[in-house]
Amino acid sequence: MIKAVRGTRDLLPPDTALWNFVEAAVRDVFRAYNFQEIRTPIFETTELFARGVGEETDIVGKEMYTWFDDQRSAETKLEDVFLSRQPKSAKQLAPVEFPELKYQPRTRLIRSQGKNEFVDYSSSPSPDLLHRLKEYSEIWGQIERRAKLRLVTDRRLPEGMRRLAGVLDIAITILDPRDSRPSQSLTLRPENTAGTVRAYIEHKLWDRGLNKLYYIGPQFRRERPQKGRYRQFYQIGAEVIGPPASGSESPVRDAEILEMLATLLDRLGITDWNLELNSVGCPADRAKFNEALRKALEPVKEKMCADCQRRAVTNPLRVFDCKVPEDQPIIEKLPRISQFLDAPCREHFEAVQKILTAVGVRFSLNDRLVRGLDYYTRTAFEFTHGALGAQNAILGGGRYDGLSEALGGPAAPGIGFAIGEDRLVMSLQEKSPAESVLRKPDVYVAPMAGMNADAARLARELRRHDLIVELGDDAFRLKKSFEAATKAGAKYILIVGENEVKADAFALKNLASGEQISVPRSDLARKISAREQVD
Ligand code: HAM
Repeated sequence: MIKAVRGTRDLLPPDTALWNFVEAAVRDVFRAYNFQEIRTPIFETTELFARGVGEETDIVGKEMYTWFDDQRSAETKLEDVFLSRQPKSAKQLAPVEFPELKYQPRTRLIRSQGKNEFVDYSSSPSPDLLHRLKEYSEIWGQIERRAKLRLVTDRRLPEGMRRLAGVLDIAITILDPRDSRPSQSLTLRPENTAGTVRAYIEHKLWDRGLNKLYYIGPQFRRERPQKGRYRQFYQIGAEVIGPPASGSESPVRDAEILEMLATLLDRLGITDWNLELNSVGCPADRAKFNEALRKALEPVKEKMCADCQRRAVTNPLRVFDCKVPEDQPIIEKLPRISQFLDAPCREHFEAVQKILTAVGVRFSLNDRLVRGLDYYTRTAFEFTHGALGAQNAILGGGRYDGLSEALGGPAAPGIGFAIGEDRLVMSLQEKSPAESVLRKPDVYVAPMAGMNADAARLARELRRHDLIVELGDDAFRLKKSFEAATKAGAKYILIVGENEVKADAFALKNLASGEQISVPRSDLARKISAREQVD
């Protein structure tokens, strides 16, 4: 049996009714705040996320579904790169993800031209990686003669690295974006903010002033699947972005977004949420904070996990993403961002809090909240919900005033959030099962022998009156039609026999009460919807 891939799932009725209920409420609430929908592609260039979200983040470093969309000559054509298409023999050779190479997760064993090769898509392979690859190559070489080592990268390698690769006998293929033969590293989007800002730049949306955009759609991260955490999951997000003159930097925007979220959650009946709020400062504050972190980590980093040891050097802020329990006491003692905010950032943050208090949105301050993406500046927040257990962040977001510039665009401060729709639906399910929002058929039209055409005509007429109609089949005996109508949850069954058609009046039976009346054709729609209200 072919099954859905690990970490992905089918959403089936009646649960989909709950998803539609959520999305309808979202569209309704967002409209009241003057947001409009944007739909960006599900895959983008890898570079967008590397530059936007940040190379050191877990998302970009470990969790992206990346592949080469390669239309090169037969010699360099790389096939079966994508995980799900790993050939059998390659799978038997080695696990797909090598624990030793965890920090270089884009290294894959692939089969190309009948040979097994290592391929590394990371932008900056380290000398250490080259050595490790070499080691693997030797082990694998013993298992399978044809195993060969090749490093494929889409960025130019420094000369020193090239020489090292030569000594280690590693073939390097550099995929040059300027090459006349097109070749691109592509990635399934792990989030939608980078794509939205790319679209903002590409379509010069600054001409429209302040943009208030929202999206609903799937995102992809190769995380360890568990309750509330999937590899294909859905986000409902919104972004407010525009040139500084449009007021995009104003604390009014931050507070409006948070108030909109509180309104949405309340409207959906999720009341026991907690809003955690922080300011991660502007780039200048962050530089000072990073420096202080680097200093504080220097004497203790040896005791920390491998990821943290690396982060302590490359991007100390990311140490706060660490989940290793043994590292937590060290992390707890590190400096706090709140000590490094400059006056404008502090005033901005205070202004946000003042409006929130005025509009009655409760929040708690948490100066440990830095969020797992690099683009954040100033306001950062998460809404948590107790019912969700370990994966309790129902949504997260914040400001990203420098993102547009980091992607090559003009200054365009912005703020946004993304709700994990899977988690939102999960919290709703506890209170209202999908059945409660599902609209069942108003009527089941049951044709007697030979009456299919007449029944279809009648069903068509009734559906024009916004009734939900299930159409039976004259191959069913009356008893089977009744069973089908009951199973479908229909309120009424309408019998279409030869006599009824002749008289132009039909037997309408209420399946709950058992009451049956004869109703003229012209009166049917009205009777069915009117009686629905009385019931
Ligand atoms: P994020 O915190 O990475 O932020 O994701 C937002 C929400 O998506 C999380 O709070 C969680 O509910 C949900 N989520 C994330 N990963 C998974 C998963 N594997 N399975 C199920 N749900 C998940 C962002 O993505 C930012 N783009 C938000 C943003 C928009 N910031 C500014 N604008």
